[in-house]
Amino acid sequence: MQITKSLSLLLAGSTTLVASAASHDPFRSFRPRGEPVTMAKGYPNVTIAGVNVIDTPIVRLAQEFTRNHSTEAVFKHQMRAWLFGSLIVAANETLRNSVDVEIQAVSALLHDLGWDLTPNSTVTSLDHRFEVDGAIAARKFLEQYGDETWDARRIQLVFDAIALHTTRTIAYYKEYEVQVTSMGISVDYDGLRTGIDNATFGRITTDFPNFDLKDATNETFTAICAYKPSQTYDNQLQPWGERYVPGYNVTGNLRIDTIFKNL
Ligand SMILES: *[C@@H]1O[C@H](CO)[C@@H](O)[C@H](O)[C@H]1NC(C)=O
Ligand SMILES: *[C@@H]1O[C@H](CO)[C@@H](O)[C@H](O)[C@H]1NC(C)=O
Ligand SMILES: *[C@@H]1O[C@H](CO)[C@@H](O)[C@H](O)[C@H]1NC(C)=O
Ligand SMILES: *[C@@H]1O[C@H](CO)[C@@H](O)[C@H](O)[C@H]1NC(C)=O
Ligand SMILES: *[C@@H]1O[C@H](CO)[C@@H](O)[C@H](O)[C@H]1NC(C)=O
Ligand SMILES: *[C@@H]1O[C@H](CO)[C@@H](O)[C@H](O)[C@H]1NC(C)=O
Ligand SMILES: *[C@@H]1O[C@H](CO)[C@@H](O)[C@H](O)[C@H]1NC(C)=O
Repeated sequence: MQITKSLSLLLAGSTTLVASAASHDPFRSFRPRGEPVTMAKGYPNVTIAGVNVIDTPIVRLAQEFTRNHSTEAVFKHQMRAWLFGSLIVAANETLRNSVDVEIQAVSALLHDLGWDLTPNSTVTSLDHRFEVDGAIAARKFLEQYGDETWDARRIQLVFDAIALHTTRTIAYYKEYEVQVTSMGISVDYDGLRTGIDNATFGRITTDFPNFDLKDATNETFTAICAYKPSQTYDNQLQPWGERYVPGYNVTGNLRIDTIFKNL
């Protein structure tokens, strides 16, 4: 698949991507199928907002793909989530030695594809919660663009990292890639974690300002509660439905007899 669109990384500036995902990657030939890409082992890298991150064709394509399907606010959120997650890994020896950072990069960059509110979007559905829309779209993205290093296990980890990113009571007990994807995302909403100090946070939000994330989240959650309420009853979108969407009603879904409906 020939990709001709120019990819303008905000900071990698002049980078233009005119390469196929499967060629021109000198690093690729050194990697057996399924082999994790860890910080300890090293990889092609680039510095974005002062953070050293992996720079492989699939990571660039993930940025392009997410730009194609995101508003500017959501694009920047996903970039920050990637950078924060990368810093969380860099600050911890266990994580440096074991986290597959290409998985964390792709997962963080694609985690909110389910927020695409474009009518008839190819990355969303009416019958899946937004996290699952994102996970399915990311899996398709990897099936289309991923090279042979993307075995079933690595693709599954991306799927899980995206599907579970809001369900931290599960995600934080899964594989490290699933944990750090969710933790990186959480920094935008919940604040600093080990690996990200105030100065680092300031540098990242200077290059990828976060002033618009609150409104973007509010608007997206409200829109999702309106267009597919049945996919918002078992996640954190309920308050938006109840507050802002006329006719939204979770009462029936919370009744014990609906849980025991076959018993
Ligand atoms: C980043 O790339 C440089 C070479 O360009 C290399 O020396 C360095 O080890 C790389 N860093 C990581 C973390 O892979
Ligand atoms: C992004 O959109 C452009 C323009 O429609 C398209 O040419 C390009 O292939 C898309 N990139 C990806 C990775 O889907
Ligand atoms: C590093 O990360 C591992 C895995 O999440 C965790 O168990 C450990 O406590 C961390 N180490 C430090 C020093 O934070
Ligand atoms: C979306 O799909 C529906 C049904 O196929 C069609 O009627 C509508 O025109 C489409 N809307 C857009 C913006 O493409
Ligand atoms: C945190 O960084 C911001 C700039 O990003 C600065 O205005 C603020 O004073 C800093 N706070 C602390 C406690 O250092
Ligand atoms: C969310 O958006 C609604 C309008 O859709 C607005 O009335 C409300 O104040 C916003 N809530 C927050 C917390 O920003
Ligand atoms: C919400 O659903 C429950 C159960 O189906 C029903 O009893 C209740 O009247 C509904 N409330 C509203 C405001 O529609």
